[in-house]
Amino acid sequence: MPTEAGRSPTGGPDDSSRRAAGEADTPFSEQLKQATWSAHEDAEQHGFSRALLEGTLPRAGYAAMVAQHYFAYAALEEVGRSLTADPVAGRVVHPGLFRVPALERDLAALYGADWRERIAPTAPTRAYAARIGRTARDPAGYVAHHYTRYLGDLSGGQFIRKAAAHTYGLDERGGTAFYDFSALGSLPRFKARYRAQLDALQLDAAAREHVVDETRRAYRLNAAVLADLGQTFATEAA
Ligand code: HEM
Repeated sequence: MPTEAGRSPTGGPDDSSRRAAGEADTPFSEQLKQATWSAHEDAEQHGFSRALLEGTLPRAGYAAMVAQHYFAYAALEEVGRSLTADPVAGRVVHPGLFRVPALERDLAALYGADWRERIAPTAPTRAYAARIGRTARDPAGYVAHHYTRYLGDLSGGQFIRKAAAHTYGLDERGGTAFYDFSALGSLPRFKARYRAQLDALQLDAAAREHVVDETRRAYRLNAAVLADLGQTFATEAA
């Protein structure tokens, strides 16, 4: 699976030759994926992710990642709720994606009923959540953060779900609820609709470029969270 994900997203030409072929014909969702795929690979091929997928990450490391997700998604969904009427960001916000209730279930399973007292955001998570918070005044930037997390959860996240179920014996009742999107119906169909929504956003060239830049930033912020967790939990794999 990391191999599958590691290929060029379309299996086609690299960014520079594709640009020469003319971006005007390429849907925005595809441009965004192409332009940010190398940042995806950096995040995906991280030691922490590798250890998680290979089943060598201790359960405490998985729990710590879920805890960090909680703080990031609290920010993501707070801003999302404030932007539901926005003509740009409001197009992607979907209540069926909201993850905080699932994360609360997972944290109760992983840490116990007193989970709130047992978790805290790391410095990279605080920086990430702060950046998401700033997008309350930057709806196009919010789209970048929304795309990076939710489309990732609907894609590679489903491999993580399987690995966590297998390695730690968890399920969607508590532990991997975060990755359970069954309420959305068919995931390929939902992702296709999401991409169509990205394509239909009323964004000029500069705003599109901003979404691309902010997506790269979102990947970097995510990679920093994982790198920090890797120092504690995935030292052999890192
Ligand atoms: C654990 C390691 C990871 C694996 C194995 C993985 C795997 C994948 C796979 C297989 C896809 C589908 C590619 C396709 O449609 O051709 C995907 C898409 C995606 N992943 Fe990951 N991923 C990982 C980590 C991440 C991380 C850390 C993020 C960001 C926080 C992320 C964000 C995304 C996004 C946004 C997409 C959608 C790209 C698009 O179709 O536009 N992934 N990933």
